[in-house]
Amino acid sequence: MAGLKKTGREQELIEKARKYLPGGTLGNASGDVVIAKGQGSHIWDSSGNEYVDYLLGSGPMILGHAHPDVAEAVRGQLESGSTFFANNEHAIELAEEICKAMPCADKVRFCSTGTEATLYAMRAARAFRKRDKILKFEGGFHGMNDYSLMSIWPTNLKPFPEAVPGSAGIPKAVQETMLVAPFNDLETTTAIIEKHHDELGGVIVEPFQRLIAPKPGFLQGLREITTRYEIPLIFDEVVTSFRFAYGGAQEFYGVVPDICSLGKAAAGGYPLTAVAGRDEIMAHFDAEAVQSDDFMPMIGTLSGNPIAAVAGLATLKILKQPGTYDRMFGLGWQIRSGLQRILDEAEIPAKVVGEDVLFDVYFTDEDIVDYRSTLKADSKMLNKFNSLIREKGVFKGPSKFYLSAVHSGEDVEKTMAAFKYAAEKLSG
Ligand SMILES: Cc1ncc(COP(=O)(O)O)c(C=O)c1O
Repeated sequence: MAGLKKTGREQELIEKARKYLPGGTLGNASGDVVIAKGQGSHIWDSSGNEYVDYLLGSGPMILGHAHPDVAEAVRGQLESGSTFFANNEHAIELAEEICKAMPCADKVRFCSTGTEATLYAMRAARAFRKRDKILKFEGGFHGMNDYSLMSIWPTNLKPFPEAVPGSAGIPKAVQETMLVAPFNDLETTTAIIEKHHDELGGVIVEPFQRLIAPKPGFLQGLREITTRYEIPLIFDEVVTSFRFAYGGAQEFYGVVPDICSLGKAAAGGYPLTAVAGRDEIMAHFDAEAVQSDDFMPMIGTLSGNPIAAVAGLATLKILKQPGTYDRMFGLGWQIRSGLQRILDEAEIPAKVVGEDVLFDVYFTDEDIVDYRSTLKADSKMLNKFNSLIREKGVFKGPSKFYLSAVHSGEDVEKTMAAFKYAAEKLSG
């Protein structure tokens, strides 16, 4: 990549990764860079190049890397034990904090990944409603469990509500238990729910799907139709919890689901996620609260581990301070609107979409409202844009700018300069 020096050490590590890791990666971001260190809103690669980081570990580092308060809380707990497989003080405190924050949460069950959280949320909905099928939205991302992988990034588009597997190795039977609807299309979604309501155990949605905000009335309409048929509505808030607002997307958009999954920011970069929801549904995790056939065991070696719990509590304490969200949204707005302006001035067809704390650009003239509209955008141009801004020290994933509470005015300036450089190259 032009403009970035790579040392022999980093090249060696890239080669070693190719030898020992499938595809030369951890399965996440591309293997062309090896990260050595993160501090605040910046990361450094193994060649010593410094970047303003908008990947933020794919979201958890909402306070930036190695935040001193989080690091201190973790260091303190390291001396007192890292996991017990039994109740611990910090996990109980964190459960209370989550229940106070998230409007739908009467009770919480912890796990370690978002993939597990959505799996359990769907299972709880089925257990409660005593029906097998789950409706999800095309392009909605709920992690890597078999159910979530349906119609996650289909290229072979099928008529709704047919599901398309997004991975090899998933039993056909799973495909048959999933129905798929178009995000932001209340009419089609309503028609599918009306036709299949008696088979549906639940509806799962990212209230903000990837980068697409819900149209006014969409989540409200989904809430109304699911309430009418008494179908549990699951918000996957792995990304949006404690990010869009302290009470997540359910507070931000003013629509309260029956259950939610949460993670990422909630544990400040440590492995902890959760399912939270209404008492009647969460009762299925309690052997004494339901008949034995209705009980759902949920056992996990590291569930609610105290290291992640103290990291979560320290993170939430800072997020709760007055002004944190205003600042994050304010900086995000500057970057987001600046990007749109720079691309408009360069006459590059582009739509910057999302909310101020989480957004990205699609290179297209068309409105982005659902998964199918994203397919019309020029993805090669986005890859080029991502490489060009990286040359100028701005790091992001293949899609999404995540904002943190510690990005600075200086970061914004550097980012704007990178955008101008990229726009010049792309239009030249
Ligand atoms: C909305 C959403 N749900 C679930 C997941 C899965 O979380 P994890 O990677 O912790 O399994 C993700 C991960 O990015 C996500 O964005």
